Amino acid sequence: MAHQSALIEEDILEYLQEHENKSFLRFITCGSVDDGKSTLIGRLLYDSKLIFEDQLAALETDSKRQGTQGDKIDLALLVDGLAAEREQGITIDVAYRFFSTDRRKFIVADTPGHEQYTRNMATGASTADLAIVLIDARSGVLTQTRRHSYILSLLGVRQVVVAINKMDLVNFDKSVFDAIEAEYREFARHLNFNDIVFMPISALQGDNITSKSVHTPWYKGAALLPYLETVDVAQDESSESFRLPVQWVNRPNLDFRGFSGTISSGTVHVGDEVVALPSSKRSRVKEIVTYDGNQSQAGKDEAITLTLTDEIDISRGDILCAGNDPAQQTDQFSAHLIWMGEEDLLPGRQYILKTANKSVPANITDLKHKINVNTLDKQSGKTLTLNEVGLCNFATSQPVFFDPYAENRETGSFILIDRQTNNTVGAGMIEFSLRRAQNVHWQALEIDRKARASLKHQKPCILWFTGLSGSGKSTVANLVEQQLHDLGRHTYILDGDNVRHGLNKDLGFTDADRVENIRRVGETAKLMIDSGLIVLVSFISPFVSERNMARELVEDGEFIEVYISTPLEVCEQRDVKGLYAKARRGEIKNFTGIDSDYEPPENPELVLDTSEIAAEAAATQIVKYLEGRGYLSGGA
Ligand code: ADX
Repeated sequence: MAHQSALIEEDILEYLQEHENKSFLRFITCGSVDDGKSTLIGRLLYDSKLIFEDQLAALETDSKRQGTQGDKIDLALLVDGLAAEREQGITIDVAYRFFSTDRRKFIVADTPGHEQYTRNMATGASTADLAIVLIDARSGVLTQTRRHSYILSLLGVRQVVVAINKMDLVNFDKSVFDAIEAEYREFARHLNFNDIVFMPISALQGDNITSKSVHTPWYKGAALLPYLETVDVAQDESSESFRLPVQWVNRPNLDFRGFSGTISSGTVHVGDEVVALPSSKRSRVKEIVTYDGNQSQAGKDEAITLTLTDEIDISRGDILCAGNDPAQQTDQFSAHLIWMGEEDLLPGRQYILKTANKSVPANITDLKHKINVNTLDKQSGKTLTLNEVGLCNFATSQPVFFDPYAENRETGSFILIDRQTNNTVGAGMIEFSLRRAQNVHWQALEIDRKARASLKHQKPCILWFTGLSGSGKSTVANLVEQQLHDLGRHTYILDGDNVRHGLNKDLGFTDADRVENIRRVGETAKLMIDSGLIVLVSFISPFVSERNMARELVEDGEFIEVYISTPLEVCEQRDVKGLYAKARRGEIKNFTGIDSDYEPPENPELVLDTSEIAAEAAATQIVKYLEGRGYLSGGA
């Protein structure tokens, strides 16, 4: 959709040429629910005559039916596209709108102001050059205003227009405007904005939108649209180095081998030296092939295929970088994290961390602090809840390539995905690699697990007992160990109650602590497998996610999940330690099965219910399982 211009009729080619050469401004609007974002965007589209006639007709009918503006056209309806949103009266997803004027082309991300939709706001902000922060003149600077401003700053938006809206409802009173400006400026002193402009507007009445309003003679600045048309936001992308995440290797025949992807930053020319990561092999660009033919250079966001002058090994997931400034590689780094999950962050849990071109398992090794968005103070905390922001240390299970977010918004950012639900639960901005990652290297040892295991004449494995407290895990594990011992096998038992007296004595029974409990015991069991032992782990281990993590730490066939499925009623009746009674009386909080979840295994190797089978028989069955599969003979 183009704006209406006489040129379209007079000289369409000239018009298109002009249009092509116009600069682009990407901006985002944010603010609280009723601050009037949708009305503002509707007003911008309407006043610059960007609405198709049939859209206008539909709008008039809709306004009469649902609008909140009496018989006048309700501009918000223009933008609030989805029926469900209209009914709720809030915008719930990022809607990108394109429009243009004689001077510039615009992409605006309209993002919801509802508290729980901060995630959409962050999505919109990550590509924006400028943000319009809307404030309702009657309510002033709210927590939501501060939160959004902080996120804008964190996501690298440097240019902000604070549009103080609904000025008509405060009689265009300058003192109201001045007070809000002063309060916002004070808060924003600590943010990383280059430029903040304040405007008194009424999106509904059109004051200071396309032209200066007669109602605000005291306002000396520009109206919004002329400002957006002329503001200089040329972010210095020229200083960004070339990065091409390789999406696929294009090899139609033996004579052609190209590396395809979309340039995430910088420019590349034929003849440039490039370095491929992770191999660090160097070569020069031979050709830049595009859909429209070969080019001598290409820049950010262009989809290209590169051929190189040397045959070097590059695969999908690798990254091609400028020879003089390659990206960094790390498996431990510090990053800001915006938490978007409905459930709280569990630092020890493995999430999938997705960067520009790679997905790897990762967990948070340290939550350094949370940020109070009202005061910008740092606070200590064990978890992040929905919309909270924290500075965290991350560990990934394989190295990732990155640039600090301050240098490159594409290669410096990532999202976190929950492995169970596949939901995006966090967005991260990388600060720096942790030095210890660079200085700690894997030490190769002469005697390996195979050598250790063969001396013991067994195949090491983990027997992972999971089930409710009182289900009989420890009793059965104990009997299994006795039988194995009698057979001359080398074993060790890691039991929840015991390990919690030593290694894990700092941990309690919150979800976060249980996740960390299992992470540590999983790592410990892995070390014991390495030493050649048959390890018996007896922990409630209530979550599928952490049991899977422990399984993935070791090789296929080394993890045997034994689900002791004794029902809750039976466990509670037994109540050997009297804990169920205490939990029922409310004396113990977060007790598994009572007020804390237990997620049964999905595909356990063995299921045994000690209310149906005696502990001795259960133990014999497990030993038989090991014997039958060759764990008790030979070496690894
Ligand atoms: S886990 O959930 O983190 O795997 P773990 O197996 O280490 O638990 O510890 C469970 C043992 O701690 C139980 O057998 C019980 O003796 C004791 N305990 C104390 N408080 C609780 C609680 N709130 N929930 C479960 N077990 C508890």
